[in-house]
Amino acid sequence: MQNIGEPIEIEEDILENTLRPRKFKEYIGQEKTKDALRVFVEAAKIRKEPLEHILFYGPPGLGKTTLAHVMASETGSNLKITSGPAIERAGDLVSILTSLEESDIIFIDEIHRLGKVVEEILYPAMEDYAVDIVVGKGPGAKTLRVDLPKFTLIGATTRISLLSSPMRDRFGIIHALDFYSDDEIGKILERSSKILDIKIDQQSVKEIAKRARKTPRIANRLLKRVRDFATVYEQGVAGLDITSKALSDIGVDHLGLDETDRKYLSTLLHKFDGGPVGVETLSAATSIDRNTIEEVIEPYLMQIGFIKRTPKGRMTTPACDINFVPHQSNYGGAKTKENL
Ligand code: ADE
Repeated sequence: MQNIGEPIEIEEDILENTLRPRKFKEYIGQEKTKDALRVFVEAAKIRKEPLEHILFYGPPGLGKTTLAHVMASETGSNLKITSGPAIERAGDLVSILTSLEESDIIFIDEIHRLGKVVEEILYPAMEDYAVDIVVGKGPGAKTLRVDLPKFTLIGATTRISLLSSPMRDRFGIIHALDFYSDDEIGKILERSSKILDIKIDQQSVKEIAKRARKTPRIANRLLKRVRDFATVYEQGVAGLDITSKALSDIGVDHLGLDETDRKYLSTLLHKFDGGPVGVETLSAATSIDRNTIEEVIEPYLMQIGFIKRTPKGRMTTPACDINFVPHQSNYGGAKTKENL
């Protein structure tokens, strides 16, 4: 695997890579998507052809990058990883594409953030395995078509609605990733505890699963925080008491909501009487970035039935009015897409 354009790996990324499953049989959840992908992999192997281009979409942390790793390892292909914002100029993309080898997989995260000019380079690359390079300037300029090896593009986006339709239409396979059940998150936590050699009981696993926002990336981060508390207070053994203390101390409540979610909900409930209110107004009133509201906070609040998006704006639901507890703890790191 090769990361393009992002040379620094922070500790959480290293952790995520250690825990990432590499084969379908290790990957828990997303059963329908997995079944379909298995067929595509088998068909491509039998026909000795590269995989079709694939698009994954859904909220952050649900396994889009992980599935790209699985696809690469199941097909025995090299995986090159980059992202929409990392590819600033057309030349950046051309040099990535021309360095590919036959059957390589290139993964572009946040593909909705590619610029228009860069996107237009991708069209012939995806369709005809070729790039058109303009040589020279002015009336004498010529377009040179350079053939590329047959590669597979895997794109990922949290915002399918922001992807242009010509871009969307060039993917042969499009899959939405769903939130995980608490049982699936529990299984992921058990697998991760084994890999990280964490001593944790069933009840504690269930407690973390309940508060992990149905998201594997968050579950694994919470597991790591619980391990820290267990190391300091309980000689490394994570029981229910220390697990609950760790989760409460870091500001995660019994529903998996943190300080930022609570700020969002309190504002919507108390300042705007439960809505309807527009996202821009909510963003200004809470000082939470609009993208974070739309891509991170709201998908989970809709999933647990606490808010609705209506044509007139956001509204709380009766479930929220009954179950929401505004004050959980005094800690809360600001939530952004990056530190989800
Ligand atoms: N770690 C992160 N996501 C996972 C998944 N879906 N299955 C197994 N382990 C994981």
